[in-house]
Amino acid sequence: MDKYIIQGGTKLYGQVRAQSAKNAVLPLLAGCVLTDETIKIKDVPAIADVENMLRILGEVGCKIVRRKEHTLIDSANAVSHEIPPRLTKELRSSVFMLGSILTRFRKAKISYPGGCDIGLRPIDLHLSGLRRLGVEITEEGGYIECRAEKLVGAEILLDFPSVGATENIILAAVKAEGRTVIRNAAKEPEIVDLQNFLNAMGAKVKGAGGGTVVIEGVKRLHGVEYTPMKDRIEVGTYLIAAASCGGEIETIGVPAENITALLHKLRENGCQTYVKNDKIILQSKGVLKSVNLVETTPFPGFPTDLQAQYSALCTTAKGTTLVVENLFETRYKYAGELKRMGADITVRDRTAVIRGVEKLHGAKVVAGDLRGGAALVLAGLQADGVSEVADLSHIDRGYEGLEYKLRRLGAKIKRVRI
Ligand code: EPZ
Repeated sequence: MDKYIIQGGTKLYGQVRAQSAKNAVLPLLAGCVLTDETIKIKDVPAIADVENMLRILGEVGCKIVRRKEHTLIDSANAVSHEIPPRLTKELRSSVFMLGSILTRFRKAKISYPGGCDIGLRPIDLHLSGLRRLGVEITEEGGYIECRAEKLVGAEILLDFPSVGATENIILAAVKAEGRTVIRNAAKEPEIVDLQNFLNAMGAKVKGAGGGTVVIEGVKRLHGVEYTPMKDRIEVGTYLIAAASCGGEIETIGVPAENITALLHKLRENGCQTYVKNDKIILQSKGVLKSVNLVETTPFPGFPTDLQAQYSALCTTAKGTTLVVENLFETRYKYAGELKRMGADITVRDRTAVIRGVEKLHGAKVVAGDLRGGAALVLAGLQADGVSEVADLSHIDRGYEGLEYKLRRLGAKIKRVRI
């Protein structure tokens, strides 16, 4: 197991190039089984969730050639409609495979993807959407078995704009007979990226990014070379780091409109921001005032995936911040660790009250989930003294070379094996 050793108190200066978006690449990889021709995806990030997804594709029978600048996925010999339980547990987004495997094989079997570090993570919206397309689903012994004589387009209304359910239904509908309309669909930019990818393969998907997605089923999809969008949550994490440490950074690859809610909050905190195309410059004196309230909501609201990182910033902003997490049940696991660093946080259910303190002090803390782990790193960067963040396996799921990118900005952080 590895840990970070962080000497806090350094301002951050320089440029950060975004990685490809984890939450775009995962559904794109699932989409590769929709054709028996080879797909080339460029700049696939070296992060654990992606490596696990490639392992799942390998188990299904896809041939993978993994290079730094691109990854080739050849699904011509994909044979298995079953995803092994050990991999489903590893990776919740293996659920996205349901829709694409059903399209390919008309049947699918996965073990029930357990909850994870941040909540129960139900999949009822995925399954009800697939049933609307004609899929028969049985759930027993911890397995979900799906069968569909044929997939037929349908009108689907999502009770909640679930990202995963929207993506899974699109992947099941692209070669269904007729038209599928998904209402109350998720509007996240990653859905637009999936639409662009599938249309480049010959699909007919439109409306992603708005609340209604319309898919006209087609007979065949062909191979394609595709470059995924860049990771708005990774870039948001670096912007929050610079805001709380002070300094000036420029991020490259993510257009401001993909993280407007965060930029509004950081300006309210007292940061200066300048945007041009896919470049964002943030300047901060490091002494911030608190915003009164931040609530996570589906896109374009404040992203739940930046809630933990932003809460770390609030620990030393002047004043009190009320944080409300509307998406997941237990996304405050990091709060206890921040308290060990001197933060004043009170958590009740989905709400956290954070009273700004003068300074955090270094401490030994343990990451409990992906974004909570990133929050602890950000706290260590701004704290007085030395912090250690253990159990980096969570952070490695979503951040490519976090310590390298932070060191290039001047942070004093190193990774050691324990
Ligand atoms: C995706 O998860 C992301 N993961 C998450 O990022 C992100 O936090 C989430 O969307 C919200 O933006 C990937 O894209 C791989 P949801 P997903 O379905 O699809 C409820 C990260 O850190 N719900 O939009 O699982 C659910 O309980 C990860 O990168 C149902 O009730 O999110 C939650 O309250 C964490 N029934 C809400 O919807 C369902 O069938 C949002 O879930 C599905 C979801």
